[in-house]
Amino acid sequence: MNLHGRDLLTTQDWSVEEIEKTLDLSFDFKKNRYNHPLRNCLDRRTFMMFFYNPSVRTRQSFEAAATELGGHAQFLEPKSMRLKTSKSAGETVQDAAEVMSRYSCGIGLRVLETAIEEYGQGHELLEEYAEYASVPIISMAHDKFHPCQGFADVMGMRLHGGKDLKGKKLLQVWGRGALVRSWCSIQESILVNTRLGMDVTLAHPEGYDLDPEVIKWCEENADASGGEFEIVHDLEEGYDGADFVYSRNWMTADFYDNMNKHGVDAAKKIEIERAMKYDDWISTKDWMAKTNNAFFTHCGPVDRNSEVTDEVVDSEKSIVYDVAENRLHVQKAIMALTMGIK
Ligand code: CP
Repeated sequence: MNLHGRDLLTTQDWSVEEIEKTLDLSFDFKKNRYNHPLRNCLDRRTFMMFFYNPSVRTRQSFEAAATELGGHAQFLEPKSMRLKTSKSAGETVQDAAEVMSRYSCGIGLRVLETAIEEYGQGHELLEEYAEYASVPIISMAHDKFHPCQGFADVMGMRLHGGKDLKGKKLLQVWGRGALVRSWCSIQESILVNTRLGMDVTLAHPEGYDLDPEVIKWCEENADASGGEFEIVHDLEEGYDGADFVYSRNWMTADFYDNMNKHGVDAAKKIEIERAMKYDDWISTKDWMAKTNNAFFTHCGPVDRNSEVTDEVVDSEKSIVYDVAENRLHVQKAIMALTMGIK
């Protein structure tokens, strides 16, 4: 199995064996952070990080990961480049991708939320870069998927629940909140965890449906892995017997229509007013008491006291900082496997 040269737009594009190989190497990097045999596999190489949206974890963990592998990560924003857009003349994706490939060992892209005009546009941009770049394209979170986060989530649950999580229940639950987030982290989590055989329950209020194609893939993944996948709109049912609880806000499918009709601020206001009506959709100690003594997980940034109470996120069952740390280890593994010196 050789991952050298491969793009990573979602874990769904990789085989279960490739996912497991990446996780094994991630655990290896965690155990042997500075003296690993692959510690110089990016020797003097540059990884380009192209951010349309802000970030704490992703930027910092990729920079640290490149450094720890003997290379360098370069931070780029669209405002510092003259790129063609639907509203302005400039350099095409084809030319940018070809040129960036001449300087780098790989290119990461983040494009989501208000940096796009409609759902799917971010994914199309990554596909276009992948078509023209001669180095791997790695999603650093886009409107559809967040594969590096998906790997870190699995690693966090395995650290605390053991390698075999088959039959363990993951509650992926919508949380009220004011950050109006894309679907990428949620979709990646339900995809990779159904793939690996967990029993995944997706819980959200009516009207917060995710991409139907992703839901279909989750059903197919569960059939193939022997896991289960269900969607519920009832919190009692969701929390009951869960081994892991992952709460996170996400936007409705109406967001981009509202943004194009009324502007970004008005569209966000509509989403926030709608979300705040769901008082019960916050992970509290009382909800956690209905679980199988579940661990609490979250990809960050956590919207405290909206998605989850301080009491839960600061409890001894919270694994959110471990998951954040894992971003470093999994990205080292992804870079070593897809673009490291052979
Ligand atoms: N989880 C995640 O991607 O965090 P950032 O937005 O801070 O990078």
